[in-house]
Amino acid sequence: METKPLTGRFRADGRPVTLKEYHAAGGYDGLVMALSMHPDNVQKRVQDARLRGRGGAGFPTGLKWSFVPKTGGDKYFIVNADEMEPGTFKDRELMERDPHQVIEGAAIGAYAIGAHTAFIFIRGEYHRAAQCLQQALDEAYQQGILGSRMMGRDHALDIHLHLSGGRYICGEETALLNALEGKRPTPRAKPPFPQVAGLFGQPTVVNNLETVCNLPHIMRLGPEWYLSLSRCKDGGTKLYGVSGPINNPGLWELQLGTTAREIINVQGGGMRPGHELRAFQPGGASTDFLLPEHLDVPLDFDSVMQAGSRLGTGCLIVLDQQTCPVKMVLNLETFFARESCGWCTPCRDGLPYTETVLKDLIEGRGRPEDLKLLEEMIEWMAPGNTFCALAPGAMAPLHSALKYFRKDFERYLGKG
Ligand SMILES: Cc1cc2nc3c(=O)[nH]c(=O)nc-3n(C[C@H](O)[C@H](O)[C@H](O)COP(=O)(O)O)c2cc1C
Ligand code: SF4
Repeated sequence: METKPLTGRFRADGRPVTLKEYHAAGGYDGLVMALSMHPDNVQKRVQDARLRGRGGAGFPTGLKWSFVPKTGGDKYFIVNADEMEPGTFKDRELMERDPHQVIEGAAIGAYAIGAHTAFIFIRGEYHRAAQCLQQALDEAYQQGILGSRMMGRDHALDIHLHLSGGRYICGEETALLNALEGKRPTPRAKPPFPQVAGLFGQPTVVNNLETVCNLPHIMRLGPEWYLSLSRCKDGGTKLYGVSGPINNPGLWELQLGTTAREIINVQGGGMRPGHELRAFQPGGASTDFLLPEHLDVPLDFDSVMQAGSRLGTGCLIVLDQQTCPVKMVLNLETFFARESCGWCTPCRDGLPYTETVLKDLIEGRGRPEDLKLLEEMIEWMAPGNTFCALAPGAMAPLHSALKYFRKDFERYLGKG
């Protein structure tokens, strides 16, 4: 039985899996199966598989779909491939190596919620991934997989590829909807949630690209098989990546719940000679640091939360003993401050201010009260105080760095 459903078909030469190869490996069988079922039963199968969204928040996918009203009218299914989180490079690999898997997953998701139009919203800089997807979409139309009679059945689906204008905020699902409508990409107030009033005011589901790639396999091989892939109560494998001073940085499909120790030491080949691990961010730039004592925490949604961070995108960033955590945090805050959409005051003003305080500290202009000030900034940008999760996410590395590496901050004040 397959243990690497998402990446198992990847070609050794790095080129995209062809349509012929995809078919030979059972490709599009999951879509045929879905089309033979009632959409409610497709939703139930995904709920039974306990698939949780891979876009960062880990929301159960089948449950999200169930909020879409069953009434008629236009509905939209959107694949979120914006992937601008620093340190994260998982969706790009899926698009460049196996684009038909993305199309099949999008078609199944669209069918499950009753949508006849879907979009793949892709990061603007991902030129190669966009080319691979467009070629696969053209093939899918030529073969009658998409279009007015999908796979020869009385069901229509169009999938459009949309290149993002190129800001981090465009990946936030409601800002993404505004971007697709041609408006300024600021997040929308929730409720109403997109499942009820999304793109052009119609019911819409936004799912991460890795989430969507799981769908063909859940349809084809069933929830029990999918649950058996994982080491925790949620189903499936996970694409885990590592960047930083390790011997073999990269991306691997592993059981959901694999530990950071295994990923860094086995797949990643361990720390580079002369470098010692000091901490790691488990799921991209907007997640709290964890320490060596957390290396054996299973990297699943609930366990990482209990350890004080978030699984996020599952792409780890490693901090070694040689790198100054304060400078690393400044680097991250510079990114977040630049990417604030400016819609709400705590984030628009607070992030550049945080950046300035950190810079002053590092450049010798720090004042004793600055650490307290940084803590206040974390409070002001806590969840619920801003329109979207960008600002609280930006505060996560700072919050955990102040907790774990306080002495490094104090050293800049001449106290260490
Ligand atoms: C600032 C910001 C940027 C985001 N960027 C992405 C992104 O690039 N890709 C993504 O899938 N989700 C991103 N998200 C999360 C989405 O809002 C949404 O939760 C996700 O696409 C839902 O997919 P899932 O249910 O399959 O996880 C971002 C959220 C925020 C706050
Ligand atoms: S938190 Fe920041 S990015 Fe999010 S809406 Fe407010 S200003 Fe925009």
